[in-house]
Amino acid sequence: MVKQAAKQAAEAGIKNASFEVADAEDLSAYADDTFDVLTCNCGIMFMPHYSKALLEFRRILKPSGVAMFSVWGPRDKTDLIAMMNEVREAVAPGTTFFADPAVLGKQGELHAVVEKVGFSSFNIRDVNVPMKFPGTIESARSVLDNAVVSELFNRLQAEGDTHIYKRAEDAWMAAAVKHGYMKADEMVFPQNIALMVTAKK
Ligand SMILES: C[S@@+](CC[C@H](N)C(=O)[O-])C[C@H]1O[C@@H](n2cnc3c(N)ncnc32)[C@H](O)[C@@H]1O
Repeated sequence: MVKQAAKQAAEAGIKNASFEVADAEDLSAYADDTFDVLTCNCGIMFMPHYSKALLEFRRILKPSGVAMFSVWGPRDKTDLIAMMNEVREAVAPGTTFFADPAVLGKQGELHAVVEKVGFSSFNIRDVNVPMKFPGTIESARSVLDNAVVSELFNRLQAEGDTHIYKRAEDAWMAAAVKHGYMKADEMVFPQNIALMVTAKK
């Protein structure tokens, strides 16, 4: 992602941007009150200590700065997360992912976390992010190839469940048909609610 960002910036002729990799839970490389704007799209809910990351975001933000971050919404309003859980249950019943993408998905709970971290003012709004993918099995595999799913499936594969990805692809296609997500040659997931937070230090 960082390589891609650097490439796109170079292509666009942007010369005053730099790109670095850092752990959001430990931004000690950056001084307090450094940044005017901070964004984190659909990231913090995958961090084991998301409050630590939010404390870091607030610390490195200038007093006049603005932080914007988003998380996936509730499980029953986010087709992609519901699908991932359905497929997991179909091919590896009783297992769990290392992180729950919907852990901060309820307005009230997210509000409490952001308030506790100390942001002085903030608002949270719901946004729907419909998603479309080609209606092919390769596409099912690429959707399943994200860290939350692959951490579990790679582990089960290493433990001897050698066909887990094949079964997961088939389960994904079957669930997409069952829920009416297959449209002509596309898989369309109409409802994926994200909660968007805009916060001042
Ligand atoms: C769903 S992806 C979102 C990626 C990107 N923000 C976007 O909108 O396409 C979640 C990202 O969070 C990153 N991530 C997870 N834990 C992290 C941490 N502790 N510090 C920095 N990034 C982290 C993962 O590497 C992954 O790229």
